[in-house]
Amino acid sequence: MESCIRLSSVVRSTGRALSTAAGRQQRALVAEAGVFTDQEKQTEEKHIRKNFEDVQKERQNQGRHSVLIGCPPKVNENKFLKYLSQHGKVANHFFFSSNSTNAVVEFVDAESIDSLLAATKIPTDEDMCVVPFKSRFIKIKAKDLDQHSVQCCPQSSIAFSDLIEKLCTGESIEDQAQILLEELQLTEESIRLRYLVSTLISDIATAYFPEASVSLYGSSVNSFGKMGCDLDLFLDLESLKGHRTGKQAGGSITTEFWMRRVSSRRAAQQKILSVIGECLDGFGPGCIEVQKILNARCPLVRFSHQAAGLPCDLTADNRIALTSSELLYIYGNIDSRVRALVFALRSWARVHGITSSIPGHWITNFSLTTMILFFLQKRTPPVIPTLDQLKSLAGKKDKCIIEGNDCTFIRDLNKVKPSANTEPLATLLIEFLEFYGKFDFKTHCIDIRKGTEKNKPESSPLYIQNPFEQTLNISKNVNQSQVHRFVDIAQESAFILQDQMSQSSKSKNPWGLASILLSSSTENSSTTKKKKKVEARERIVSLLESLRNKDNSGKTDVKPEAEH
Ligand code: CTP
Ligand code: MG
Repeated sequence: MESCIRLSSVVRSTGRALSTAAGRQQRALVAEAGVFTDQEKQTEEKHIRKNFEDVQKERQNQGRHSVLIGCPPKVNENKFLKYLSQHGKVANHFFFSSNSTNAVVEFVDAESIDSLLAATKIPTDEDMCVVPFKSRFIKIKAKDLDQHSVQCCPQSSIAFSDLIEKLCTGESIEDQAQILLEELQLTEESIRLRYLVSTLISDIATAYFPEASVSLYGSSVNSFGKMGCDLDLFLDLESLKGHRTGKQAGGSITTEFWMRRVSSRRAAQQKILSVIGECLDGFGPGCIEVQKILNARCPLVRFSHQAAGLPCDLTADNRIALTSSELLYIYGNIDSRVRALVFALRSWARVHGITSSIPGHWITNFSLTTMILFFLQKRTPPVIPTLDQLKSLAGKKDKCIIEGNDCTFIRDLNKVKPSANTEPLATLLIEFLEFYGKFDFKTHCIDIRKGTEKNKPESSPLYIQNPFEQTLNISKNVNQSQVHRFVDIAQESAFILQDQMSQSSKSKNPWGLASILLSSSTENSSTTKKKKKVEARERIVSLLESLRNKDNSGKTDVKPEAEH
């Protein structure tokens, strides 16, 4: 599919151009001077400088103008488009394959969808009952189209071995990180599909609760999404109440609907999600394996969208999570190194089992990303500002209080100055691994609001303060052994990279990022042994040194082995 390949390659080449060290240095000089050159302005404007809310609106609009079409395995693309264009002008389309061949078709006008749906028959099957609801997920039969193969856009990421091979072709770690980012990030087509699915779910939810809306949050929208990541959705009930301004429609008339009492907000969420869960299970277009997990800390309905091949979690009233997604989006777009580093480290953590797709005592991607942001805030000069600094830049319309929590920060990316830090990505990667390899997790908590370590308010093995609900720890699930594993692997990976840096040529393959993505127990076992030998040698040297000192001063500064 030509249009699909073209879209992806434009995104890729722009990404590469913007992430060069020279480009960054120029931006840093500009930042120090506090002015933007014309060229700088143009580059910045051309690149992603759109506000989160504007992107959401634009994408949702695309989703609303789109239909999901189940196709026969072979389709004549021209005939397919001709057939659809009877209903209106097609703005964009692509094919993808999950269990079967499907297409996403975006129309220029919403009326075209009405026309298409009006021409769509309800299936007549003795085993099926009619549901009074026509969704934008439709099916086209083979007899309507000639059988031709179409090129499908991939919906999953590159195989691991192919990725390692590609990484080895990189010229530098910076280059490797860029390759990894381009290979793993959500494609334009995957983003379109995600928004389309969110609007399909929204159609179901709003059939029952017309004033509500369904929004996407999490990695699908926060700029750190990898192909195959889950689809986090939330049913927004608060939009009715004017959350950002705190203003509500005046007047003395209130709706009876809101007067119905439930014992708590949580009980209300559970009831609403239970109803929607039933609807999704009964007639959600493409929804399978619907589970209502209403007793979780944050009640949710979990299901799979079969045609899109997406695992989905639907929560209710989860505006703070949407706000933290917006904050992550801002950080991801302030400096091109942030996404490159997050993608590299998310992949690193995943292959080493530091993170997992199964819920448990592991560090989550969200926690890991917050740790990376904290590290970047602590560089000298900082790569990214603290949340308090973003708050100090906020204007009137950025003011936002959610459930009593101050969620105010600048929303306009163009008002955040680029960093004066010009460290190459390789340095940041190694420094991250070293920073956490010796971080005092026992005493300190991570706080991206202030960008400084604080004493932990309680004894959780890993304490990462929720940036908005400041009394909460986002990594409460993590146990001590997972923290130890993280520290050990960070130290080992730092060692591998430093060892390579100290050698004049990168003759060994896999090297750089590829080498730390491979499991230490197999491919790097010789390096592990070498590291242990070096450590033992260093211990002996320092022991001899301290014995010498002892001879001289009568004291020893050797720590007991147990403390190492
Ligand atoms: N979230 C939160 N507090 C937590 C966990 C999650 O505020 N303790 C919010 C974050 O905004 C997070 C979103 O919920 O991005 C979705 O959570 P999750 O799916 O676990 O993380 P993602 O960032 O989407 O990453 P992944 O790719 O692993 O799904
Ligand atoms: Mg997610």
